[in-house]
Amino acid sequence: MDNVNEAQYWQQRYESDSIQWDMGQVSPPLKAYIDQLPESAKSQRILVPGAGNAYEVGYLHEQGFSNVILVDFAPAPIEDFAKRYPDFPTKHLICADFFALSPDDYQFDWILEQTFFCAINPDRRNEYVQQMAALLKPQGKLIGLLFDREFAGDDIPFGGSLDEYLQRFKSHFDIEIMETSYNSHPARQGSELFIKLRVKG
Ligand SMILES: C[S@@+](CC[C@H](N)C(=O)[O-])C[C@H]1O[C@@H](n2cnc3c(N)ncnc32)[C@H](O)[C@@H]1O
Repeated sequence: MDNVNEAQYWQQRYESDSIQWDMGQVSPPLKAYIDQLPESAKSQRILVPGAGNAYEVGYLHEQGFSNVILVDFAPAPIEDFAKRYPDFPTKHLICADFFALSPDDYQFDWILEQTFFCAINPDRRNEYVQQMAALLKPQGKLIGLLFDREFAGDDIPFGGSLDEYLQRFKSHFDIEIMETSYNSHPARQGSELFIKLRVKG
């Protein structure tokens, strides 16, 4: 399970096209969330960590969001994204370890979670919560989807439950929404939670 901490593991998965998590499209609940945002949100600074093929980043870009930062530590999907979106600012494409991003350098209005939490080693979940909180501006939000189920085996994706997430996030976040997503992709219907968490303090 430690291999998921290594960029090389993920790079190989992309190179061998072994990317079963990839939906090939923007996640419907996240599209719906983005679609209801006001025009004024389009200049907000947004992070999409562990973005992979980054359909959400592409969609935000298409909708005119101009300050979206894509982070992944595997170069392959970033290179692919850059080919698909040649007009996307290259300075917003960051090949780096999410856990190594310095909050002194990066502060966001909101961060989008999509199949990233389930990809990190479960031993790092508290570190994830702390790093997310550190990267958010005051009143900043963590928005996205978390699996509400367990998976067989000791491999990605690593599942979880509403109770676990409530316990884990409450140290750093106020839970505004954490409920079963009603508009998930059919393959994930009933098995993911939509979350909107506001950083404390
Ligand atoms: C399961 S994939 C999900 C990709 C994308 N969000 C999606 O839904 O298709 C997890 C992604 O997180 C990236 N990743 C895992 N750990 C990371 C870390 N510590 N820093 C940056 N990226 C990471 C992997 O390279 C991979 O692209």
